[in-house]
Amino acid sequence: MNKIAVLVSGTGTNLKALIEAIKNNEIKNGKISLVISSNKNAKAITIAKEANINTMVLDRKSFKLAHEFEEALFLALKEEEPNLIVMAGFLCIIPKKITDHFKNKIINIHPSLIPAFCGEGFYGLKVHEAVLKKGVKITGATVHFVNEIADGGPIILQKSVEVKQTDSPEILQKRVMEQAEWVILKKAVNYICLNRIYVKNNKTFITEE
Ligand code: GRF
Repeated sequence: MNKIAVLVSGTGTNLKALIEAIKNNEIKNGKISLVISSNKNAKAITIAKEANINTMVLDRKSFKLAHEFEEALFLALKEEEPNLIVMAGFLCIIPKKITDHFKNKIINIHPSLIPAFCGEGFYGLKVHEAVLKKGVKITGATVHFVNEIADGGPIILQKSVEVKQTDSPEILQKRVMEQAEWVILKKAVNYICLNRIYVKNNKTFITEE
């Protein structure tokens, strides 16, 4: 059974999708053992508690210095020693010390088709505002391994979503979450828990069942 730690900062819709996928066996051989939130007011904490999952709050605002927060996060993760860490709406940068220690064991869900609309400053609604400003007709979501480069690790899964002319950033975000994020994140977690993903030359490959 793979131990999964989920890092959150906000609404927790991706966490909720993972909890439901484990419950209905869409994710096999995986169990969420800990949810860590960087925001003491995150709705995701309530979602975890309602699912009887251990929670920890490392409120980023209560740490004077970034490296103190990063050290606390590193210690918490080393203590838990999960097989897999999922960043689900987590808004803090993961330092190299952590990505090195958990190499190819941390994944992130990003609300665009990487390499488009990603990297520094592209998170949450800002991504969809940039998509609409550029006028692209297709967007989507990406699950990728996390390394020291923001949104730079090997891509695991992607799913496209149509951009409609009448979209607002909020409407587009909702469609990308419903039609892409919640679908591919649980799929990627399941593949990893079944040991069906490997990385070669910075690219991921999924083995046949
Ligand atoms: C979503 O847009 C997700 O793609 C991004 O953070 C936002 C909130 O996610 N990573 P959640 O509802 O907290 O899972």
